This record gives sequence, structure tokens and C-alpha cells, in this order.
Amino acid sequence: MSDVLTVHGGSPLKGIISVRGAKNFVSKAMVAALLGEQPSRLTNVPEIRDVTVVTGLLELHGVQVDHGDPSSGVLDLDPSNVELAHVADIDAHAGSSRIPILFCGPLLHRLGEAFIPDLGGCRIGDRPINYHLDVLRQFGAVVEKTAHGIRLSAPQRLQGTKLQLPYPSVGTTEQVLLTAVRAEGVTELRNAAVEPEILDLIAVLQKMGAIISVDTDRAIRIEGVDLLGGFTHRALPDRIEAASWACAALATGGDITVLGAHQLEMMTFLNVFRKVGGELDISADGIRFSHPGGTLRSLVLETAVHPGFMTDWQQPLLVALTQAEGLSIVHETVYENRFGFTQALRDMGAKIQLYRECLGGLPCRFGARNFQHSAVVSGPVTLHGADITVPDLRGGFSHLIAALAADGVSRVRGIDLIDRGYEHVQAKLDALGARYDRD
Ligand code: EPU
Repeated sequence: MSDVLTVHGGSPLKGIISVRGAKNFVSKAMVAALLGEQPSRLTNVPEIRDVTVVTGLLELHGVQVDHGDPSSGVLDLDPSNVELAHVADIDAHAGSSRIPILFCGPLLHRLGEAFIPDLGGCRIGDRPINYHLDVLRQFGAVVEKTAHGIRLSAPQRLQGTKLQLPYPSVGTTEQVLLTAVRAEGVTELRNAAVEPEILDLIAVLQKMGAIISVDTDRAIRIEGVDLLGGFTHRALPDRIEAASWACAALATGGDITVLGAHQLEMMTFLNVFRKVGGELDISADGIRFSHPGGTLRSLVLETAVHPGFMTDWQQPLLVALTQAEGLSIVHETVYENRFGFTQALRDMGAKIQLYRECLGGLPCRFGARNFQHSAVVSGPVTLHGADITVPDLRGGFSHLIAALAADGVSRVRGIDLIDRGYEHVQAKLDALGARYDRD
């Protein structure tokens, strides 16, 4: 099948779909299973490519992963025979994933060494790993850069330590958790990220026998233990996917019920959705997102770490803002370069201007540098169909929404990239009455 979707846009998306476990939690919980002496079971696992990639990486390291029927969402992970994988195999397998970096702590504990290849991930800024390497060094790991990647070793048991992150990085907080739980002594982490996916990872680690407390001021304290067991855990729902479909409802003038969407982790998004003019119906089963008719309202918004407005919600929301009356300002403060996808929207008729200045909010760490990280969106405009190429996961989904909202026909190339993080996209488009062809 080709990876081009020909989209006939201009009709509202209406219907019921469901979301399962969060991509950005499931992959980390799978890595956590490496730390246990007994098998673990994860449920509510979505069928997305990131899960396949992490499954392959775990298998390369000797973990037995049993998917059973993938549609059941049950994943059994048995780490009894963990071993070191060849760096070339990891490299070949990891593809665009940044997950290998999170194998470091568990492998250092279990085997005394780890390799990580050059890391991929979405092309959103440089996405460096300096914080990760700094914290691993502070636990006592020796880090050597080689031609093929990075080799780490632990000459003795890793030691708990006091850490302060320069920025509340999600991945580095996870790195610290996955390393500190089996280090000797206490680790105190300040300026930690406290995203719901991180709290769910802490819940998993606690089930395995870890001792972790979370304070209100971004401080996490971990008391290292000698051994951990397995876990049985249901992954929290994917709040990025839920919000992406919510924005599709707004942008197309539609009405989408997302079963499985959960209010608590989405409160910041839900406030914005309502401020823009969307209607919400929140129940125990999920959330109904609809466009009430008439025009949407513009707003001023800044992305931030939790509990702020997530950077991953920014791209789909921006498409909806092209339909809002007046000027909206969006200040991106998490990644320096996450507006690349707006060029395609401009090609479709959107009026979006990018600025280097920190607009509409407090100055951020990108303000004095040369990054176009503020966007001004002027609306409403009628989007028209175009030929577009998916740049990255979230930008790609936004292009898809824009194509569905636009008058006329669009060809969206590179649609496979979206399968990395969105489950059963085509089946969901069918359920929502989208009109498209895939050769
Ligand atoms: N940063 C550094 N050095 C580091 C690590 C991070 O400078 O060593 C910077 C980054 O460049 C960025 C900021 O810190 O400017 C925040 O990065 P963070 O570490 O929080 O991001 P991440 O862990 O690499 C995860 C998600 C992203 C999501 C961010 C922010 C996964 C696999 N990825 O990335 O999700 O945008 O947190 O919430 O969990 C996506 O799902 O499409 C996605 C990109």
C-alpha cells in the first residue's frame, strides 16, 4: 500500500472512536519491566509502531515479549534472561526512536554496561541527550562516546545522588526514576517533570517494589532498593491522541466522541477547547468534543510542561485556530523549532506568521536566540487542498486534520509516520465519515 492519502476535505468529522494507552507512557513501562526479577503484564496497550519498536529492542536484550492477540492490548514481558545486545542491531532496530536512551539505567543495574546508538525521534529541534548523560554520570556511570554511539559502564553499583535538572525534561526525569530505583541509597531530584505519564510510571515502579515520593514543588525522592519484582498495570489513556481528535472536530466543524479520554489529565486542554468555543460533554466513558456552529474565538496561549498546555497539543490546535475569528498567539516554550509544519498550512491558505520574539507570555529560554518559536494565526480562513508531506508525528496529524477541513482534494504523503503514535488511524477516519483514498 502506498503511504499517500488522497483526502477529499470539507465535510465535518462525526462519530465515535476510542483511544487506548498513552504512547509516551507505554514505551517507558515496557522498559521498566527490564528492572524486575519477575514477569510483568501491561494492559490497554495500543497497536502503534512505537510499541513494535520497543518490543524489538527488548527482545534484542533477551526479554521475552508475548503480545498474544495485539488487539487485546495485553503485553507480557519476561526479563529473566536479560543480555547485552549488539550495538549494530540496536541501531538497525531503533530506527527513529529515542527510547534506547532509557535502557541505560536498567542495563547498568542488570549487566553493568549499556550501549546506545545515535538517537532519532521526531525532527523537532536538536533534541539533545546532554541532561541524560549528566545524570547518569552523577549516579557513577562512565560514559564514553564511540564512532557508533555511546558506551556506558558501571564499575560498581550505581549510587543515589542529589540532582537538579536545568529544565523539567520528561525523558530525563524518567531516566532518573529508572536508574535511582535500584541505585544504592537515596536520590533527590529537583525541577523534575511531573507529567501524568511520569506519575503512571512511578505507579508502575511502586508496584514493582520501589519507594518513591513526589512533592508539590517538582521534587521527587527515591529510596533505592536491591531488587524489584514484576507489575500488572493498565496504561493511562493517550491524552495527546484524544486532544488531536478533539481539534479535528473543531477544525472540521464536527462532533467526535472519544471513548477512553480522561478528564483529569486533560484539564488544561479542556479549558482551552472551551475558551476557543468548542462544546464538551464529559462522562465516565469518555469525552464528546463538538463544534456548536458559528465562529470560533481566537486566544493567546503558551505551551509548557505539565500542568501547562502540552507542546504536543499545539500542532492540532493551531489548525483549529485557523478557523477562529481574529488573531491568536501561540508561544512555544518546550521545543525551539516546532512550527516547521505551519509552512504546509500556509500553502493551504492559512495566515500564520512566525516570530523569534516571545509573544504573548513570559520570556522563555528561546527568546534571546534565533528561533522562530511564536506564531500569530489570523482567521477565519477557508483552507484549500494541497500536496503536503508529513514532517513528523504531531505535525503530520495536523496536516491530516487540515486536509480534512480544507475545500477540495489534498494529497498527504508519508502517512505511515502517523502510525508511529496514532492507533488505527484509517479505521477511525472511516468511523468519522472522512472521505479519502489510499492506493
Ligand atoms: N532537552 C535537552 N537535553 C536533554 C533532554 C531534553 O536540552 O538531554 C530539552 C529538549 O531539547 C526540549 C526540552 O528539554 O527542548 C524538553 O524535552 P523532554 O526531555 O521533556 O522531551 P522528551 O522526553 O524527549 C517527551 C515526549 C515528547 C514530548 C516531550 C514534552 C516521549 C517519547 N516523547 O520527549 O513527545 O513532546 O516529552 O512533553 O515521551 C511526541 O509524542 O510526538 C513527542 C515528541
